[in-house]
Amino acid sequence: MLLQLEDIVLRFAGNTVLDNVRFGVAEGTVASLIGPNGAGKTSLFNCITGFYRPQQGAITFAGEPLLKRKPHAVTRLGIARTFQNVRLFREMTVLENVMAGQHCRSRAGALSAVLALPGQRSEEAHIRNVCEDCLEFVGIGHEADRTATNLAYGHQRLVEIARALATEPRLLLLDEPAAGLNSTEKAELVTLIQRIRDERGVAVLLIEHDMGLVMEVSQYITVLDHGRVIAEGTAGEVQADPAVIEAYLGQDEEELAL
Ligand SMILES: Nc1ncnc2c1ncn2[C@@H]1O[C@H](COP(=O)(O)OP(=O)(O)OP(=O)(O)O)[C@@H](O)[C@H]1O
Ligand SMILES: [Mg+2]
Repeated sequence: MLLQLEDIVLRFAGNTVLDNVRFGVAEGTVASLIGPNGAGKTSLFNCITGFYRPQQGAITFAGEPLLKRKPHAVTRLGIARTFQNVRLFREMTVLENVMAGQHCRSRAGALSAVLALPGQRSEEAHIRNVCEDCLEFVGIGHEADRTATNLAYGHQRLVEIARALATEPRLLLLDEPAAGLNSTEKAELVTLIQRIRDERGVAVLLIEHDMGLVMEVSQYITVLDHGRVIAEGTAGEVQADPAVIEAYLGQDEEELAL
């Protein structure tokens, strides 16, 4: 397994948010993490990426232990993420936003890049090339010089994906990338996720409420409910699992459309 979580327990003030979670993501696959609101999906991403520190358990990535590493160190090891709510620097251009994510890879680091120290020019040019390439890859190369907040919402989400790809990850974590997208944009997102896996060789772990999209794109699905893994398997296996149907009762119709 490229990513492996073992018996993760995360608590906040006595509230158990993740309860002995164990699962893995294989190299070269798209895996999904689904479950009702509040199940603990985003918290799990936060544990993987070093934003949250679980009380128990272990996480390994490509054989390296991840716990106790800071977020930038996790990024450097090869895990990139997007956030549930779009997080862009509003006044910066699209290209600058993507470049801001890439500095974890630069030897010089963000500070000297900001200060434009001598000797940083060629590295800066390399970073710029990588970032332009990532914008082309997600299909918005022509918007590189626009101010980020002037982009349509769907394109702002693509900027986040480009920024994550620019860190040259082996694993990409996407937190509800289809939220707020129309059906055409969702179909394009499916193709993009498949291209990220097939053309870039990047494994993808997806959190998503759109079940049609999840079932179409995932090789493997893990279902979380109240912080516990209640089912896992292929789309067919998960859809037929009574525990999954039970967990989704009370959710709105669209989410129930398994
Ligand atoms: N920093 C925190 N402090 C206290 N409680 C937290 C914190 N982060 C998450 N939680 C709690 O953990 C639980 C799971 O939240 P989380 O955001 O992981 O759910 P989710 O599965 O991503 O839900 P959604 O589908 O709505 O995004 C919630 O009860 C939430 O209040
Ligand atoms: Mg969430």
